[in-house]
Amino acid sequence: MTPAGSLLIATDLRKTYGPTPALDGAHFSIHPGEVVAIMGPSGSGKSTLLHCLAGIVTPDSGSILYQGREMHGMSDAHRSALRRSDFGFVFQFGQLVPELSCVENVALPLRLNGTPRKHAEATALDWMRRLEVDDLKDKRPGEVSGGQGQRVAVARSLVTGPRVLFADEPTGALDSFNGERVMELLTEAARSTQAAVVLVTHEARVAAYSDREIVVRDGKSRDMERAV
Ligand SMILES: Nc1ncnc2c1ncn2[C@@H]1O[C@H](COP(=O)(O)OP(=O)(O)OP(=O)(O)O)[C@@H](O)[C@H]1O
Ligand SMILES: [Mg+2]
Repeated sequence: MTPAGSLLIATDLRKTYGPTPALDGAHFSIHPGEVVAIMGPSGSGKSTLLHCLAGIVTPDSGSILYQGREMHGMSDAHRSALRRSDFGFVFQFGQLVPELSCVENVALPLRLNGTPRKHAEATALDWMRRLEVDDLKDKRPGEVSGGQGQRVAVARSLVTGPRVLFADEPTGALDSFNGERVMELLTEAARSTQAAVVLVTHEARVAAYSDREIVVRDGKSRDMERAV
């Protein structure tokens, strides 16, 4: 079954670590511009699913089609290039480089793609403005709050114009006020560029920012109807 117009479709993913099946026949699909939340208890396989979809972890079996192409049929070099050009990532603790200023952090993916510094930092600053952290541009990550750091990390994930933004518990380390602000700005920024968002979260109020929810339990996934 191939839902028409899907950007990313995973079918029957299986992944075992030792005796533990982390994924046991999981399915997933997302359309361009859609925000999908992956929910489920701790250890259910959410991060493993996200890492497989993002081409970071190779499943033992199953299929992942990105724009109609099988990801695991690609060479490692091609898959890495795809990750750099089409995917953005945000993790629970931001993972900013402590030695760089905030604007240098946001500009980093562009610099790694060969964009000259001045242009990369101007684009970075535009994104920081949209995430309302441009006033922090010269600060180091250690000098900003958790919520501000996550907004810097979101700016960094979007600076290259990804088609898919993968976010694993992006608000997991924040209080509810800051978490909601990060989600508001993240979804607004992603929607403005038509980037799809794959969001892993434990929290119903974070999942409420999505268009659709997929619940993972014991490595199996289920689509949930959104109760409006
Ligand atoms: N690199 C790994 N090596 C060994 N086991 C792993 C590895 N990654 C995940 N697992 C196991 O696979 C299962 C699923 O883990 P996963 O990290 O996907 O869960 P999760 O739903 O993201 O949990 P959490 O909400 O706590 O982040 C767990 O039993 C976990 O211990
Ligand atoms: Mg996890």
